[in-house]
Amino acid sequence: MTPEAIVRVKGLVKDFRPGLGRRKTRVLHGIDFEVREGEIFGFIGPNGAGKTTTLKVLMGLIHATAGEAEVLGHPVRDTAYRAHIGYAPESPYFYDFLTGREILDFYARLTAVPNASRAARVAEVLEQVGLTHAADTRLRTYSKGMLQRVGIAQAVVHDPSVVFLDEPMSGLDPVGRKEIRDLIVALNQAGKTIMMNTHILSDVEMICDRVAIIVEGRIAYQGAIDGFDEAGDKIFDVTLASLAPDFVEEAATRFGAEPTGRGDRVTFSVAEKHVGELVESALRRGGQVLEVLGRRADLETLFLSAVNDRPESDTRTEEGAA
Ligand SMILES: Nc1ncnc2c1ncn2[C@@H]1O[C@H](COP(=O)(O)OP(=O)(O)O)[C@@H](O)[C@H]1O
Ligand SMILES: [Mg+2]
Repeated sequence: MTPEAIVRVKGLVKDFRPGLGRRKTRVLHGIDFEVREGEIFGFIGPNGAGKTTTLKVLMGLIHATAGEAEVLGHPVRDTAYRAHIGYAPESPYFYDFLTGREILDFYARLTAVPNASRAARVAEVLEQVGLTHAADTRLRTYSKGMLQRVGIAQAVVHDPSVVFLDEPMSGLDPVGRKEIRDLIVALNQAGKTIMMNTHILSDVEMICDRVAIIVEGRIAYQGAIDGFDEAGDKIFDVTLASLAPDFVEEAATRFGAEPTGRGDRVTFSVAEKHVGELVESALRRGGQVLEVLGRRADLETLFLSAVNDRPESDTRTEEGAA
């Protein structure tokens, strides 16, 4: 276990018994993953893969059949740590005759925000999620995106250090999705560790540090989505223009980077530690720097191969232990 693990899941199994019969359905087949302090962790997978089930176990809402799950160093059966976590369920339902301020005041009471500071805290969170203008109108008049922001506000009103978000962008248009992404990044920059469930890959690519891909209750991939070379250095694509041909050759040898490009533009993929040197020497030789971009893994390719390469399994109909 790395010391900075905020969430640690090991060998987690969850069976559901749909009725009184003996047959059970295994939904999580012994999954392992870790969420580290300070990151935005994307938990991604197709519908029905087991994402919400996993979050519910982490929240202590349902119990695992086997395996371990810890949050902030506490087994999930402890209740002591729960004041430090926030949870926004998928498509939260709120009493729509209440106003934004009233519903947040209600959650602030539930999570024991001190009386003296509660009104100020609610106002602060409303501001943080961009709902100050609508604070005193009824939720009935809120858009889907505004309700999603109430859901996130509700999850952070007690200032938790780790926040679980279940499909925070689902059902939103591109503008609404961007607003939620910006909000998640702002919460993260304010020091909160975030784990979010989603099946929207582009949102994950834009804001997540690391991901786990879950397919039919098994982790198919876990890792950073930044691109790294074999030595573990982060790779940057540096696009230059107006270079002398001998410079291109020289730089290719010096940085061990085969250039790619079209016409006047040449892109070198180099380790982070060489970016400064490459840019400087290009500028010195009269070149132009057009773009320096951190390489991201191609999440779609990763995702599709994870989904297609899954082992054959009879997930749905395992026989229950009598
Ligand atoms: N309470 C339950 N009883 C029986 N099966 C359930 C229950 N909750 C979820 N499932 C099943 O578990 C699987 C995973 O569901 P879920 O965790 O909601 O997936 P995801 O959030 O990845 O879409 C699905 O096949 C779902 O039908
Ligand atoms: Mg779900």
